[in-house]
Amino acid sequence: MDRFQIQGGNALRGTVRISGAKNAALPILCAGLLSKEPLVVHNVPPLRDVATMRRLLEGMGMACERHGQSLDGQDTLALRADKVDNLEAPYELVKTMRASVLVLGPMLARFGEATVSLPGGCAIGQRPVDQHIKGLQAMGAQIEIDHGYIRARSGRLKGARITTDMVTVTGTENLMMAACLAQGTTVLENAACEPEVVDLANCLVAMGARIQGAGTDRIVIEGVESLHGADYTVMPDRIEAGTFLCAVAATGGEVFAQGVRADQMRATLDKLQEGGLQIEETAEGIWGRADRRPKAVNVRTAPYPVFATDMQAQIMAVNSIAQGTGLVVETIFENRFMHVQEMRRLGAQIEIDGHTAVVKGVERLTGARVMATDLRASAGLVIAGLVADGVTDIDRIYHLDRGYDRMEEKLCSLGAQVTRVGGGK
Ligand code: UD1
Repeated sequence: MDRFQIQGGNALRGTVRISGAKNAALPILCAGLLSKEPLVVHNVPPLRDVATMRRLLEGMGMACERHGQSLDGQDTLALRADKVDNLEAPYELVKTMRASVLVLGPMLARFGEATVSLPGGCAIGQRPVDQHIKGLQAMGAQIEIDHGYIRARSGRLKGARITTDMVTVTGTENLMMAACLAQGTTVLENAACEPEVVDLANCLVAMGARIQGAGTDRIVIEGVESLHGADYTVMPDRIEAGTFLCAVAATGGEVFAQGVRADQMRATLDKLQEGGLQIEETAEGIWGRADRRPKAVNVRTAPYPVFATDMQAQIMAVNSIAQGTGLVVETIFENRFMHVQEMRRLGAQIEIDGHTAVVKGVERLTGARVMATDLRASAGLVIAGLVADGVTDIDRIYHLDRGYDRMEEKLCSLGAQVTRVGGGK
């Protein structure tokens, strides 16, 4: 297993090209199941989670070919679901990537049948999929849980009014995809407003779906008989961009996150600015400039447009070396503070009280060997390592590879010293 070795202490300077958004690409690839015509998807980031999704879709019989690469290494994938003959998402794949559950809605809507391994808990919390199931049942599906699998059957799904008990991103996406081919109108209340939901909706509309209200908490989908092929470009990754901007806030310097849209990451930008990062928005991307130690900020995660849980570990890393004390409240996942133990190994002063982490900024962190526990926790540890004195070794970097495109190359191009070392534990 690879690890990162980081020699901390360098300020970051330069331009970093932001990749396609993982959390938009994954549902959009699943949308390919909804039509027998080809869906060509551009700006797909070459990530481990995308490779897992391709394996899953190919295992079902979907053709998923790589049609070239852009200059900045993003793939164009040509999907064709005209010969899907295996309506099952197996445990081996679902257990490595929970987003696999996104095949459930499209499969059921198009083929009237789907068997998907029930995702288990994961490091950051329980993460049930009861809302996905409840919504599909409201649309007429028969669903049973059998030997660890969700077994779903239906005739043509029927439009329904569905109010989810909480805001769920993949739940909204699954139900929105299913509703595209249902008979009649579906209204999703308490829908997730994340930009990735909007990106998926835009792709579906390009395929002929009738969707209104994506980006608000009420999405109305008028079902159609079939969807057609389309050509679609995935949005830029606001979480990757936010991660690089947190990194420069911590190390100091000047970084241009190229290709990202400020309006899709307002809460992150506001917090970074409050902490002293100078932000300049341009049509091509966002500049972040830091010439002094950041100030601690208080952050509370919540569904979009509030501060993203996927940015929580990274802002905590910035707080850990900031001036003052910052409170970080996690309201989405019950166990998303696992990076705290590891940050303490670097000298961070963080106390946890329930869902709140109290982060007392210290003047310096010191390099140590630490372990990545999940995707965004890894990103937080990388930021802490970039600013720590001496060498920080981060084990289990495969978590990072799930969702960050060549992070060490991008950081090195900004002046950081990060080496990937094979054979760590
Ligand atoms: C998505 C993102 C993930 C992000 C998360 C929250 C993708 C592929 N992943 O995950 O990066 O961290 O949104 O922004 O887009 N819940 C239930 N029952 C359900 C569904 C959700 O109880 O049926 C709960 C979850 O346990 C969690 C909360 O609702 O506490 C939000 O989860 P959800 O928005 O569904 O997260 P994901 O879609 O899995």
